[in-house]
Amino acid sequence: MKFAVFVSGQGSNLQAIIEAVEKEEIKAELALVFSNRRKAFALQRAESAGIKTLFLDRRHYATPQSYDRDIVIHLKEAGIDFIVLAGYMKILSAFFVKKYPKKILNIHPSLLPSFKGARGIKDTFTYGAKVAGITIHFVDEKMDHGPIIMQESIKVSEKDTLETLEEKIHKIEHRIYPKAISLFVDGRLKAKGRKVEVVS
Ligand code: GRF
Repeated sequence: MKFAVFVSGQGSNLQAIIEAVEKEEIKAELALVFSNRRKAFALQRAESAGIKTLFLDRRHYATPQSYDRDIVIHLKEAGIDFIVLAGYMKILSAFFVKKYPKKILNIHPSLLPSFKGARGIKDTFTYGAKVAGITIHFVDEKMDHGPIIMQESIKVSEKDTLETLEEKIHKIEHRIYPKAISLFVDGRLKAKGRKVEVVS
């Protein structure tokens, strides 16, 4: 199986995925890293690991659909079977999602359905929630909404600052996203409606 990782920023999750592929904890080929931002540090991480990268500039496309259509053409050319979003800060069009039903995974740094959107950790922290966490889910047409594959929670302590909470959340992400991807690759995730079962 071949997969692509979509990024927009730092790429710390991408790094964890690259390492898991190298250690064969994920038994699939990471064939492409795609970014909607030319300057994403994640692209440098991919290049250092010898992985093919692609950047497409949204400003050169009239609509979100035409942008996504072009991405799909590249994915088909590269023989990509599934997609992992790792800090990709653009909403995929319904057109794109329909092309890869239950074949797009996303990680979100909150316990969904709480604190959807671009600032999951900050929103959790400033709301005063006592529990924070992360969610890995399949992507559907609605933002941060598809069937949940895995969640892990962590207590927010009174001593936590936004920075310490961010650090703890990212640590969890880097540990469990590769595991979820590996379960997917091994065909161990069975989705029925909103329920995702891990089968042996
Ligand atoms: C992560 O917190 C992820 O949950 C969210 O965006 C952040 C990306 O971080 N979707 P990085 O680019 O992987 O370092």
